[in-house]
Amino acid sequence: MLKLKNIHTFYGPIEALKGVDIEIRQGEIVCIIGNNGAGKSTTLMTISGILKPRSGTIDFAEERITGVPPYRIVRMGISQVPEGRRIFPKLTVKENLEMGAFPIRGDKKASLEFVYNLFPVLKDRHMQLGGTLSGGEQQMLAIGRALMSRPKLLLLDEPSLGLAPIIASKIFKTIREINREGVTVLLVEQNARAAMKLSGRGYVLENGRVALEGTSEDLLSDEQVRKAYLGE
Ligand SMILES: Nc1ncnc2c1ncn2[C@@H]1O[C@H](COP(=O)(O)OP(=O)(O)O)[C@@H](O)[C@H]1O
Ligand SMILES: [Mg+2]
Repeated sequence: MLKLKNIHTFYGPIEALKGVDIEIRQGEIVCIIGNNGAGKSTTLMTISGILKPRSGTIDFAEERITGVPPYRIVRMGISQVPEGRRIFPKLTVKENLEMGAFPIRGDKKASLEFVYNLFPVLKDRHMQLGGTLSGGEQQMLAIGRALMSRPKLLLLDEPSLGLAPIIASKIFKTIREINREGVTVLLVEQNARAAMKLSGRGYVLENGRVALEGTSEDLLSDEQVRKAYLGE
């Protein structure tokens, strides 16, 4: 479904991705783990078209999307939940959700129903301002907003960041539910253990390169991973 081949992405002179290869099949949950600054967010932003790679190719559903503008990538079926949620605090919950449907022309009412079914709390609070929601609710809103374009592939950038463990596990449960609804998921997490429990496969990014990849089972039992990312 998605194939990154030898992706190099720069910020000015800084080479943040140094030849990244990633492949995702339809229906999977795949995670990317790695320390701060490893290039996880850069990878997601390169997929969603916010950053343009200097070289390498990205194919999505048999189409080359390298260099395609972000709004068109959303229309093709990729949607991103940014790190730090970035909801609009002065807009209502419903208005925030409607922003997510902006790039597409489909049935917004049906999308709204889909999101409200997944997150009943957002329906209850649809008139409340985004900024007055709790951290966990804001994360649900950010995920809900990304789902409004009815993506085939959802990119999630550290959805558990800054949340209490019980709220974080609720978010992880919802991600599994979204996947069961047929959405393929690429999940970036610093919480490596939780991410790999949720995913079938994972990639370890180190300093802009894929250092390791494998099934979550293999990664969880890898000595290097256990030492570096699971605190053992
Ligand atoms: N806007 C930017 N300008 C310059 N360098 C950046 C910028 N954003 C990220 N970087 C650098 O790119 C590298 C990868 O960053 P990032 O993808 O945000 O890592 P991660 O999400 O894994 O923490 C880091 O070395 C970071 O300092
Ligand atoms: Mg990041």
